[in-house]
Parts: sequence; C-alpha cells; structure tokens
Amino acid sequence: MSNAIDLKQAAAARAAELVEDGMNVGLGSGSTAYKFVSLLAERVRNGLKIVGVPTSEITRQLAIKEGITVSTLDETPSLDMTVDGADEMTRSLHLIKGGGGCLLWEKIVAVASSRNVVIADGSKLVETLGRFPLPIEVNKFGLEATRRAIINTFTKCGLNGEITVRQTEDGQVFVTDGGHLILDAALNSIPDPEKLSVQLNLVPGVVENGLFVGISTDAIIATETGLVEWSRV
Ligand code: 5RP
Repeated sequence: MSNAIDLKQAAAARAAELVEDGMNVGLGSGSTAYKFVSLLAERVRNGLKIVGVPTSEITRQLAIKEGITVSTLDETPSLDMTVDGADEMTRSLHLIKGGGGCLLWEKIVAVASSRNVVIADGSKLVETLGRFPLPIEVNKFGLEATRRAIINTFTKCGLNGEITVRQTEDGQVFVTDGGHLILDAALNSIPDPEKLSVQLNLVPGVVENGLFVGISTDAIIATETGLVEWSRV
C-alpha cells in the first residue's frame, strides 16, 4: 500500500467484508465511504442481500447507480451497521466529522445503528482532536447571533478560535442536504470533546456539531504497514 487512495480502499474493502446477508447498512459519505459503497455493491451484484440507508444525497445517488437497494430511516429506522469515514479520530474513537458537510445526517444514521465502523487512512488518527476545523451545522436564521453564541461557548469551555462560514469552491455559501449552513471553527485542540459537544448543542441556532463522541464502536485504519482494527471497550 502506498498512497492515501490505496489506504482508503484497503480500509473500505475490510469493512465491506463485515457486512452480512440481510443486514440494514448505513452508508457513509466522503471519499473513503464512497469506496466502501462501491465495494459493497460488488458483493450485492454477487448475491448479497442488504438494504442501504445513505447519509447524504451524493451517497444515495452513488448507491442507486451501483445497484444497492436504498431505503430511508423512516422506512428502516433500525440499522445493523453503519460504515463511515472521519476527518480526525482518536484511539478512543472520538471523531471529528463533517468535512464533506454531511455531519447531521451522518450522526442521525449512526445513532440509529447498532454498530458504527469508522474507516480511514492512518493520517486521520490523532492524539487530541482539533487540528481539523470543527464543522458546526447551523440554522440560516440569526447566523451572526448564533456565531457569537458559539464563540461564548468556546470561551466557557476554555477554547478560542476563528469561525468561518463554509463556502463552495465557486464562492457560494455552502448549504447542507438539510438546508442549513456550516460554520468551520479553527480551535487547534479540543481536550474535552464530550463537554464541547454538549455545550454547542445547547446554542439554539446550532443544529448539530461534528464531534462524534461515544458513537463509533469499531475502527479500521489502513497504514503503510497494514490494517489496524480495534473496538471501543
Ligand atoms: C463527510 C465526512 C467524511 O466522512 C469525512 O469528511 C472524511 O472524508 P474522506 O473519507 O473523504 O477523507 O464526515 O461529512
């Protein structure tokens, strides 16, 4: 294995092996999760029977194109396993997600799932979360007031950092599948992700934040020297 693409592919391939006949599977978003969806679809074409619940519109379109039977959480509210990527993760399986802007649907699908497998290349593994800017999904209404309330929350948690409104590559304001905006918060270090997550979600304009604490159950990380797998104890 050499580059990040090969490593993502290796982690995704191992996760695809874990899926069993008859499972309801949450389908993550992002480049690593898309590899998982494509590899899972190969197994479906070879006879595996599963139902997939996508975490974004892009994933839904990919899954349909690949021939996976797609459902929604309304039709299929209880999932056996979700496989998704991460922007950062610790060994204790705390994550930052939302680099692709799908964190709300990803978190809703993950919480509906008995098992949550995070797949990534080794560069995503960190000692302390926060080098990757924390995505926070917010309602469009009252954006500036919400931004200030978030800054106050950071101060209360002993943190400070710059907040930017996420934009698309062509300079438009990025809008999530749920119709919200994303604020990216450059904090550098988040020593207590559980506290910050709880406090952020108390701000009325915050819809959800990208800290996944106590949600992931298993990790499959591909490194130059091979796959590393572990479960949360
Ligand atoms: C999307 C996510 C992705 O899982 C995360 O950004 C990782 O993406 P990639 O696999 O492309 O590195 O949280 O909202």
